[in-house]
Amino acid sequence: MRHWVLITGCSTGIGRALVPLSRAAGWGVVATARQPATLAGLPAGEDLRILSLDVTDVASIEAAARACADLPLRALVNNAGYGQVGPLELLRPEELRAQFETNVIGLHSMTNAFLPLLRREPGARILQVASMLGRLSIPLAGPYNASKHAVVALAETLRLEIGREVAVVLVEPGAIQTEFRETLTRAWGDLPERARGTRYEGILEKYKTIRKDRSERHALDAETCARKILAALVAERPPRRVVIGKDAFLAGKLKALLPAAWWEAILRRAYGLR
Ligand SMILES: NC(=O)c1ccc[n+]([C@@H]2O[C@H](COP(=O)([O-])OP(=O)(O)OC[C@H]3O[C@@H](n4cnc5c(N)ncnc54)[C@H](OP(=O)(O)O)[C@@H]3O)[C@@H](O)[C@H]2O)c1
Repeated sequence: MRHWVLITGCSTGIGRALVPLSRAAGWGVVATARQPATLAGLPAGEDLRILSLDVTDVASIEAAARACADLPLRALVNNAGYGQVGPLELLRPEELRAQFETNVIGLHSMTNAFLPLLRREPGARILQVASMLGRLSIPLAGPYNASKHAVVALAETLRLEIGREVAVVLVEPGAIQTEFRETLTRAWGDLPERARGTRYEGILEKYKTIRKDRSERHALDAETCARKILAALVAERPPRRVVIGKDAFLAGKLKALLPAAWWEAILRRAYGLR
């Protein structure tokens, strides 16, 4: 009997890339998205189940758990997420709340809703998609940094609590080419207007250019990232952490090695915060 995995946020990006790779590895996939129509292009098969799922909607999560009750679900990949950016001074509480609703509370609700199903399968595992920004913070991405630090803390705690029963894997990618950056500029709404006339006006413009340039020049493609996640998904003994990309690896090391004042100076300079 094949193993099954449920993946959140499969409409685009990393989640989408992981669906065919998992199927090719012999796993059944419950591919989920807020708009299931976005998954219509996936080839049908006995190894694919498509579900509508919004991780901020409790009823939708419960319905998804009921729809998986008959499956030998061995893994959950909590991938859904987005980036809320903007200087903290200009950030509205509702923007911070919304960021946590999806990236943190959504991931936690999914985990708890699916734990009873996962526990039925020997060797079950939960993969929590954090980010390199779960271990370090960059300027102008405060809400996102905070949400991913929270994901790291939740995963480390969960591992201590249930890790001997269900493996908990932290996925920590650096920059990946996905829809993420487009979503990020959508999520900042009227931020450019709020920034007008403040010291952040020019800084935000520069930020957009920096992010675009870095993602075009240095970001890994989504499939390469998904392959690394797949390796943890199917591993006999899943790793505790999957750090993806040279940027994630090097930035983590640099932060640990450099004096804090140097590290901060590098980041301020890189983001035009003189
Ligand atoms: N790209 C990067 O550089 C990078 C780096 C480190 C970590 N990550 C993390 O990787 C994960 C996947 O992001 P990605 O890069 O693949 O970006 P993406 O292409 O924008 O994909 C994000 C996915 O999350 C879904 N999503 C957002 N809010 C949701 C909600 N409330 N309920 C269900 N699904 C929701 C989106 O669905 P819709 O289409 O409905 O919006 C989309 O399918 C995220 O957790 C992100 O933080 C990305």
